Amino acid sequence: MNKLHDKVALVTGAASGIGAGIARRLIADGATVMLTDINDAAGAALADELGPRAAYLSLDVREEAAWQAAIAEVERRWGGLDILVNNAGISFPAHIEAATLDDWRKHMRVHGEGTFLGCKYGVASMKKRGGGAIVNVSSVESIRPGPLFVAYGAAKAAQDAVTKTVALHCGEQGYKIRCNSVHPAATRTPNLQQYLDASDDPARLEAIYAGMQPLNRIAEVAEIAAAVAFLASDEASFMTGHQMYVDGGVLAKPYPAGEGA
Ligand code: NAI
Repeated sequence: MNKLHDKVALVTGAASGIGAGIARRLIADGATVMLTDINDAAGAALADELGPRAAYLSLDVREEAAWQAAIAEVERRWGGLDILVNNAGISFPAHIEAATLDDWRKHMRVHGEGTFLGCKYGVASMKKRGGGAIVNVSSVESIRPGPLFVAYGAAKAAQDAVTKTVALHCGEQGYKIRCNSVHPAATRTPNLQQYLDASDDPARLEAIYAGMQPLNRIAEVAEIAAAVAFLASDEASFMTGHQMYVDGGVLAKPYPAGEGA
């Protein structure tokens, strides 16, 4: 499996969860990967474990100067950037009555601004390379947000708008840069674990999460990473502006009787 041989990638939020799984998978597929995160200890340890085609750089996706420095470092080390995965994320639940403006801004900054900045500087770099692929890790919550995720759902929807406009712009300009999104449902990561740990009955809550999916289980990180690796590869050469649901069937479900259309 060397479909990403000779490709250079940058993954955000790569110290943990889905991002770590994506970095692992891109390396396995032959890419050279710059892992980035704000959790420097975990990110550097994972890069060490992944071997000579992996390195780690501190990158807070909210910071414009940090993006410029990170992409310049990838270009300096490896000559250019072929693949960018905007995966870094935060989420905590709050409905419209409980959510504060600060909750809203925190989500918007990481998912909305972080993806905007990543795409902005990613496109500039890939243009010089003659093409590339951007994959944004969104969520089923961007399509069908639950009542507890007003800020998260809106921030993921903002991220989706960035994905589509980047795809359209790069297509129109003839840049050969594709931009797509992957939409996981509940996936077994430290982020999900925090919800289980906070519950009085974690086993029951896990069963509830699993039951939301027609496949009746929580996704594993490797299943999300496989979709990202596909969209990042030349096998997806005619796909751009696409939303790939890796959701165990959640978004195929009809609304229950009495709800929706
Ligand atoms: P996680 O909490 O395990 O990992 C997220 C990583 O992002 C962490 O290493 C964290 O340090 C990093 N991060 C947070 N803020 C950052 C910032 N400002 N700059 C750089 N890095 C930052 O979370 P998980 O579950 O792996 O989430 C990854 C992505 O997948 C997120 O975008 C999340 O919204 C999305 N997602 C996750 C789902 C799940 O069930 N786990 C479901 C749907 C989407």
